[in-house]
Amino acid sequence: MTKYTIRMVAPDDLTACHTIEARCFSPAEAAWASSIETRIQTYPEGFLVAEYDGEVVGQINSGSTYKDDITDEEFKQLIGHDPDGQNIVIFSLSVLPQFQKQGLGDQLLGSFIKQARDMGKAKVMLLCKDKLVAYYTRHGFENEGTSASTHGGEQWVEMTLLL
Ligand SMILES: CC(C)(COP(=O)(O)OP(=O)(O)OC[C@H]1O[C@@H](n2cnc3c(N)ncnc32)[C@H](O)[C@@H]1OP(=O)(O)O)[C@@H](O)C(=O)NCCC(=O)NCCS
Repeated sequence: MTKYTIRMVAPDDLTACHTIEARCFSPAEAAWASSIETRIQTYPEGFLVAEYDGEVVGQINSGSTYKDDITDEEFKQLIGHDPDGQNIVIFSLSVLPQFQKQGLGDQLLGSFIKQARDMGKAKVMLLCKDKLVAYYTRHGFENEGTSASTHGGEQWVEMTLLL
């Protein structure tokens, strides 16, 4: 059975995390390296990576806020981030294509949800494409409907999980 390690991100993971982002999202949707660096430096408690054989192959990162409106583009660069906020917002769950469909996304998301609960957060929030609504629903998220966000020129569904 394949063995992965899920751990908190470290500064040295920046290049690997940016590579995963670029492989998994379109150029318009993918986070800039500078945004990922900010997330690593500012909120490592909300950033987990999956490591296989010494290589980082998956990631989940986030910001925290008191606000319920998560459509603000600047928030992805952690402008407005408040580590004490009761909401934790997932920006990116992504797994290198050759490591997908092996349960790694489930492990990252499960670990993240457990950690968010341990941190005393009230709610996990995210925006996803239509095709991933069923994936997040399986993890207990509720579909809150179409978001006002037009990030990357796309339509997004808002999903929330009460902890
Ligand atoms: C979404 C994403 C993170 C899921 O990661 P993943 O590691 O493939 O997720 P899992 O393996 O846990 O589950 C994916 C599917 O594989 C299936 N699966 C899990 N383990 C499996 C196994 N051992 N064998 C075959 N299938 C398996 C799951 O049932 C699930 O089925 P679904 O396609 O019907 O939902 C990944 O596809 C990705 O990076 N996508 C691009 C980026 C993206 O869109 N991210 C989400 C927006 S933030």
